[in-house]
Amino acid sequence: MSFDRTIKIAPSILSADFANFGQEIQAIEAQGADWVHVDVMDGHFVPNLTFGPPAVKAFRPHVKTVMDVHLMITPVDPYIQAYADAGADILTAHVEAGPHTHRTLQAIRGAGMKAGVALNPGTPAEAVEHLMDLTDLVCVMTVNPGFGGQKFIDMTGKVKKLRQMIGDRPVHIEIDGGVDPKTAPLVAAAGADVLVAGSAVFKGGSVSTPQIYGDNIRAVRAAAESALS
Ligand code: DX5
Ligand code: ZN
Repeated sequence: MSFDRTIKIAPSILSADFANFGQEIQAIEAQGADWVHVDVMDGHFVPNLTFGPPAVKAFRPHVKTVMDVHLMITPVDPYIQAYADAGADILTAHVEAGPHTHRTLQAIRGAGMKAGVALNPGTPAEAVEHLMDLTDLVCVMTVNPGFGGQKFIDMTGKVKKLRQMIGDRPVHIEIDGGVDPKTAPLVAAAGADVLVAGSAVFKGGSVSTPQIYGDNIRAVRAAAESALS
């Protein structure tokens, strides 16, 4: 995985057909997804429950791009090795998930993955200021985590601050929640390079009409890139 700051679209399979993950992943990748975003929820850190390491391991052979695993769980540390074994390329933990995010990020890198840190909408950019040298990706939540299809919360100021903090380090800024062609330009202009989109990518399409996924991915990408030109 080489580092670049161009716009990347990461469809969240939280909005896919849960009975058909393999084909859904193949369809979004064939239609231009740059990364595949996998939302792991524990019914405890967030009020919803999705999938654990065995399911993530089953997704792995279908993902040819980058498997970006977003943990909305607490505790994190006991499960890091299981997600490494499941084949995550990037493993992101929430800074709110426990008191020892520094140790968690070290452990994620130690297990051979890229380490991400996510911030809830109520958490300031400064919460990750001292973690920058241990981090490969900062995920800025633009909804309260737990569900797809929620309304975008403007975190543009936080993104700009993070962009300054990152400086020339090879750290991605990812936006997660409510990203669509209307909101993508705001976050791209502020300095984000990875845009997670669940409902905006999967809406209206299916594995039998995958070109709709392609149209949706292109619409988000074009809107984001228009803010950079
Ligand atoms: C929210 C998840 C998101 C979500 C995004 O808890 O982390 O990845 O699936 O979905 P949309 O794009 O529909 O807001
Ligand atoms: Zn997510």
